[in-house]
Amino acid sequence: MASNLTTPEETTPPTIGLHGIIIGGSISGLSAAIALRRAGHRVTVLEKDSTITEKLSRGFRIAPNLHKILCEWGLEAELKEISSKPKTMNMLSYNNGTYLGSLTWDKEVLKETGGEFRLTTYSALWSLLYRETISQGVCVRFGTKIVSLKTRSISPSVSLESGETVYADLLIGADGVNGLTRKYISASAVPPDDHAHNDKSCGKDQPAYGEAKHGARIESAKFKMFSASIPKKSIINDPQLAYLINRRENDMFVWIGHEHSAIGFPSGNSSDFFLSVYGLESGVQARDLQHVLYGAESSLLKLSRIASETFSSLTYAPLIHESVLETWVDGSLVVIGEAAHPLPMAPF
Ligand SMILES: *[C@@H]1O[C@H](CO)[C@@H](O)[C@H](O)[C@H]1NC(C)=O
Ligand SMILES: *[C@@H]1O[C@H](CO)[C@@H](O)[C@H](O)[C@H]1NC(C)=O
Repeated sequence: MASNLTTPEETTPPTIGLHGIIIGGSISGLSAAIALRRAGHRVTVLEKDSTITEKLSRGFRIAPNLHKILCEWGLEAELKEISSKPKTMNMLSYNNGTYLGSLTWDKEVLKETGGEFRLTTYSALWSLLYRETISQGVCVRFGTKIVSLKTRSISPSVSLESGETVYADLLIGADGVNGLTRKYISASAVPPDDHAHNDKSCGKDQPAYGEAKHGARIESAKFKMFSASIPKKSIINDPQLAYLINRRENDMFVWIGHEHSAIGFPSGNSSDFFLSVYGLESGVQARDLQHVLYGAESSLLKLSRIASETFSSLTYAPLIHESVLETWVDGSLVVIGEAAHPLPMAPF
């Protein structure tokens, strides 16, 4: 059933119509676009890539607070089509697979949160939000790379690589942990007079912004995360692994070990099982999941073997340890999502 895409009656038109530029068209960027648009403002999303491919094959956990918002936006029916509702999270020992216990999302708990816990894929959720963004009348420009920002000017703006300048009342940085806006905010912690200098240093190959007096210090991460999507078919056909899908519909699994953990779940109506493994760097081959899994229980080893045999997508990312930003706001700029608070390391 198509959801109701019209603006609800209770939304009162804003007294001042603002123009917001959203830098980054990922989940947080598109969500901010929808929210601003629903409040009656004009919105432009600038996405540096010509298409969103990053993280597309990842599983995605929709926590109750996100679910609640999506329902408020009238997207509940569409969300149901692309997601599944796990009941239980099973905890296993990383070393030997022993069942340690489980956590159930009780009705009472979920009632308290006002939402549901659901599993989907990054691409399915992104597509749903993109459709909604467009139907709300937001302008989304792909392949639009920003080279600098003016956040404290009377007319805030962003300069594009193409030489174009786009003006707005509000700039929203949703360009992720390695994006330009997070660097800009870190660098802004130095006195405003130095801004001309900082504008220049927003380029890619500049040294760490950790030197900014009160800014965030970026350290190279010790932890790595591997994500793989593995065809459900090859899991079901393996008697040792079938429990991961058959045990109870849509169960999640968390493997807990010393300096290692993993999380796995079959997601929505996707034909894949998603696995993320967190492990210490400790000099191993950067991209070698099997190496990181040394000493893990046999199901995990088997999953990683299937992942490499089936050439199912395997991605790898260092988990960046970063100190907390002093502020998420600079003049007309606010950072959100991973630009404001990078992904925590816990696999939950
Ligand atoms: C499995 O590993 C856990 C620690 O993760 C340990 O407490 C338990 O004794 C181990 N069980 C067996 C059968 O080796
Ligand atoms: C999952 O559902 C969506 C929406 O109904 C559909 O577009 C998609 O093709 C389905 N995917 C699979 C693998 O069945």
